[in-house]
Amino acid sequence: MIRIVRERPEHAAAIERLLDEGFGRNRKGRPSYRFRRRVAPLSELCLVALDGAALVGVIRFWPVRIGARTPAVLLGPIAVAGSHRGRGIGSRLVRRGLAACRAAGHRISVAIGTRAYLGRFGFAPARAQGLILKARVDDERFLVRALNPGALDGAAGEVRALAPASPPRAGGARSRRGRSGARGAVARPPESPAPPQRSPRDRG
Ligand SMILES: CC(C)(COP(=O)(O)OP(=O)(O)OC[C@H]1O[C@@H](n2cnc3c(N)ncnc32)[C@H](O)[C@@H]1OP(=O)(O)O)[C@@H](O)C(=O)NCCC(=O)NCCS
Repeated sequence: MIRIVRERPEHAAAIERLLDEGFGRNRKGRPSYRFRRRVAPLSELCLVALDGAALVGVIRFWPVRIGARTPAVLLGPIAVAGSHRGRGIGSRLVRRGLAACRAAGHRISVAIGTRAYLGRFGFAPARAQGLILKARVDDERFLVRALNPGALDGAAGEVRALAPASPPRAGGARSRRGRSGARGAVARPPESPAPPQRSPRDRG
């Protein structure tokens, strides 16, 4: 029997293996990962599927915002072990995950993924709704779903990662540098990897 439960810290290693299986080991270069760097997932919404003790599915959600002030959740990644696909586990994860989002008060979910799959759960192309994603992602893969009727009314603009929490710096060195820095220079957090040279256009 498959059980869907909240993700727990001890699932982390098995989740990494499952995501490598589902998306390949270079998955962190995908456009969707820019929303996840140094930002924690919304742990109360992340679910795993267990077959006995074996972890066979995962879905995660991340905080993002649309435009200046509309909060949303980014669905993904979702993956099911190859040995367990086609048994409805992915569908259970999506439905349970979206229900948890709604119950937690979230009103909009965005995703970068396969429309042919996520369309089953009400996701539709987001650019047609006025959302902007500054990444080389096909219109068919940048998706949005209102979690409540009317939730998308007035929601427009760029989907952005929430700023990661960063530890305070002694002496305010960052802000001093910012004031005296070269005009037009954009500060990048020191740990952020450079953007990939070629973003895979048709992948999440
Ligand atoms: C996509 C994935 C999570 C689906 O999990 P699952 O447990 O097999 O899904 P379900 O059993 O709920 O649904 C299976 C149905 O989805 C369809 N489906 C699965 N992957 C699909 C895809 N990438 N595109 C379109 N349809 C897909 C299957 O053909 C099947 O269709 P049917 O019901 O008409 O027979 C799983 O195939 C997977 O882990 N894929 C690799 C990772 C990935 O691509 N994730 C992102 C998807 S947006």
